[in-house]
Amino acid sequence: MIKHFLDIKDINIDELKTILSHASELKSERINKPKGSKDVNQLLKNFVVALIFEKPSTRTRFSFDVGVRQMGGETISVSQSEIHFGKNENIADTARVLSRYVDLVILRTFDQKVLFEFAEYSSVPVINGLTNQSHPCQVLADILTYEECRGSIEGKKVTWAGDGNNVCNSYLQAAVKFGFSFCFFGPEKYRPEPKLVTEMENSGGDIFLTTDPNVAFRQAHLVVTDTWLSMHEADNTDKIKTFQMFQVNSEKMNIAHRDTIVLHCLPAHRGYEITDAVIDGNSSKVFDAAENRLHVQKAIMNWVLNS
Ligand code: CP
Repeated sequence: MIKHFLDIKDINIDELKTILSHASELKSERINKPKGSKDVNQLLKNFVVALIFEKPSTRTRFSFDVGVRQMGGETISVSQSEIHFGKNENIADTARVLSRYVDLVILRTFDQKVLFEFAEYSSVPVINGLTNQSHPCQVLADILTYEECRGSIEGKKVTWAGDGNNVCNSYLQAAVKFGFSFCFFGPEKYRPEPKLVTEMENSGGDIFLTTDPNVAFRQAHLVVTDTWLSMHEADNTDKIKTFQMFQVNSEKMNIAHRDTIVLHCLPAHRGYEITDAVIDGNSSKVFDAAENRLHVQKAIMNWVLNS
């Protein structure tokens, strides 16, 4: 059976933990090595990987590309405008054809339905490189970062400050799998989809939604924020105004633990969802998480291809 990596909720917790533990091993092996040197075990040797991006990307694109090279594989990276992708050829046919050329596809798309359709017709594994509804690679990298700094995330309180967006959705799914409580702190109008919240609550998730910073930040072990305007959204001054009171700043961080960690998937809009003082401060592990995208995704690629 083909193994895809599409959504955290579809993957068994033991397998998620195996991926994280392998990511740590792969990371240790890279210490003091030039970034272009090959890993000792070239786990993707003789594999060719397609990276298809419908939206801009810095971290996802570079970290997957470098990860494949370190593992001894080859990449072909294209934007959707360079190939027939939903225009001039349907997604199913593109998936069928690309599967004949490459061993693995990393796909970033505007529409989660496109990801699922591609995976349905692909005869090789597909990894979700972000959709409008989820960003599982980011959330696994965040969990690895938290656990490197503070130990197991199980039983901890994670506060999401901001928009109920794709990254937030993957956190909701991870809360159920990894057993942490999840507090959404954002405007009522921009809460995550009630259907997903209910589904995760029915699966045992400890989820609460608040607009009170004292409730959100008190006893929080991990605070996470993200842009107020996602990539598919036009400028929206009203939306930005609505979010002002949900900014992650020093005043709110003073409510939290002294050892609370702050994460942001980046790119950050400094002075909006997060202040310079917080993102550049001692609580911030934002750039460690960005690095961990590389190690986690290498472990994910090995999981879909070799396990
Ligand atoms: N966090 C993240 O996915 O970054 P990019 O959009 O730069 O890939």
